[in-house]
Amino acid sequence: MQTITRLDMLRKSVAQLREGGKTIALVPTMGALHEGHLTLVREAAKRADHVAVSIFVNPTQFGPNEDLDAYPRQLAEDSAMLEKEGTAILWAPEVGEMYPDGFASSIAVSGVSSGFCGADRPGHFDGVATVVCKLFNQVRPDIACFGEKDWQQLAVIRTMARDLDLVRPFANGIIGIPTVREADGLAMSSRNRYLDAKNRAAAATLPREMREAIARIEDGQHVGRTLAALEDALLGAGFSSVDYADLADAQSLQLLDQLGERPARLLVAARIGGTRLIDNMAVGGS
Ligand code: PAF
Repeated sequence: MQTITRLDMLRKSVAQLREGGKTIALVPTMGALHEGHLTLVREAAKRADHVAVSIFVNPTQFGPNEDLDAYPRQLAEDSAMLEKEGTAILWAPEVGEMYPDGFASSIAVSGVSSGFCGADRPGHFDGVATVVCKLFNQVRPDIACFGEKDWQQLAVIRTMARDLDLVRPFANGIIGIPTVREADGLAMSSRNRYLDAKNRAAAATLPREMREAIARIEDGQHVGRTLAALEDALLGAGFSSVDYADLADAQSLQLLDQLGERPARLLVAARIGGTRLIDNMAVGGS
């Protein structure tokens, strides 16, 4: 595996990997890798000749009171994990390489980035869209793999790729990979490590209560009352607040007050012990 920190070197390595018509899959990450990321890397490897993984804790997607400084950084450990997976390139630029002095551009994707995390984290998806567009232009992968855990992020990135006529990857080369979960159902996340033992145990209430709410909605029970009961259950289990618990169209992310013909998704963000957890699940077998 080549670990690369400079864009000119990245371009050379990518060109070498492409020789003979070989394909490249990109897995963008912010590091602090766990089994969820490694699943993305393995899925990417099934779909392309070479895998490039980026590790970049992107400052522009963090708000002023968010965890940018505290965000876990463990490049040596991450690098060892990627080496074992047969990753071809680890692209790990410094902030100054990604955002040189004078950097002044930003991509804003309206519609799918409003509401949910977009409402709670103003500017977050502009930061995500901008850095992902840069990563796509830097690596020019044939496909890119992202976790479905960040369902809204995936929608933003697909919309950005479609609207800006990205060639590599095409919008339909942006592959969503199902969420990887701990044994008790909690979605894997680099932020789970912030939880102490008590809050970690209570955090498993989130996927459990989501499944319960989904069963009720699929059973025809009132959506609004079911979502209110889900919020109450989370607050009762030790969550300090629920940012949102909503049923939405799986693609457009328009809020739904009842299940229709189109695929739907239950999306939740809730805080426990100062940590914000997000999760989403299919509703109605979609
Ligand atoms: O999902 C993440 O880890 C980040 O938002 C991403 C896509 C790597 C952009 O910084």
